[in-house]
Amino acid sequence: MKKALSLMTAAALVLSLAACGSTASSAASSEAASPEAASSDAASSEAASSEAASETETAELSTVEPGKLIMSTNAAFPPYEMTTDSGEFEGIDIETAQAIADKLGLELQIDDMDFDAALLAVQQGKADMVMAGVTVTDERQNVMDFTDSYATGIQSIIVKEDSDIASVDDLAGKKIGTQRGTTGYLYCSDDFGDENVVAYDNGLTAVQMLNNGQVDCVVIDNAPAKEFIAANPGLKLLDTAYVEESYAIGVGKGNTELKDAINTALEELKADGTLQAIVDKYITAE
Ligand code: ARG
Repeated sequence: MKKALSLMTAAALVLSLAACGSTASSAASSEAASPEAASSDAASSEAASSEAASETETAELSTVEPGKLIMSTNAAFPPYEMTTDSGEFEGIDIETAQAIADKLGLELQIDDMDFDAALLAVQQGKADMVMAGVTVTDERQNVMDFTDSYATGIQSIIVKEDSDIASVDDLAGKKIGTQRGTTGYLYCSDDFGDENVVAYDNGLTAVQMLNNGQVDCVVIDNAPAKEFIAANPGLKLLDTAYVEESYAIGVGKGNTELKDAINTALEELKADGTLQAIVDKYITAE
């Protein structure tokens, strides 16, 4: 809304100042559009009007900080969200969020924190959305709203190569490593007892603890599991699915406006193949 308005105001300024000489006119048009577009009047007014038009449908969208789409996440969950060696965020969720923000005409801001904190941020109105490979569950639906699903996940079991654990049934009585606040933690503590489940800050720590022999296995989503195994020789993924789930974006409870706007954007990204292209970039088909 803010951005659409200011663009329109700037475009109006260009028109009203056009008669006032070149200095004023070029100052106004460089505000209206990017420097390249500002070099030509025709280009700058075209850019301004098409951007304003594409934002009319989301003109009512109010976010935590005007003009921004704040995403809380836990960027230790490859290939959905992680950081490069130089500290940039990357991954399926990151690129999808960027594409959504572009469609909504908002600037994406990524706030990285622990997973349980990322879920809370959206409930406390500190973030507009949590996008972190979040599984839709009934409990979470009581405290936040979810968009349509954009991916599926499977809770999987990582063990040492010589482990005697061969299936979910063998987990009884074992020490299970998980990431705090995740469905892996919740299911395992329900099924095998809280005292048998250890919750670590993130999946990688859980995997390191498996390497050290502190736990007998790690229960985590299959896509990160594959990445952790590739990076840690001596570990393997069991060929059994513990729980199948779907991932969606969480927004504040009752924030139908934002949920609907994201759903529209998601639908377009699915229909035009953008989402699949992002997934294919990070997950190679088997
Ligand atoms: N899908 C699981 C859940 O929702 C784990 C997600 C963990 N995501 C992360 N970025 N660490 O509980």
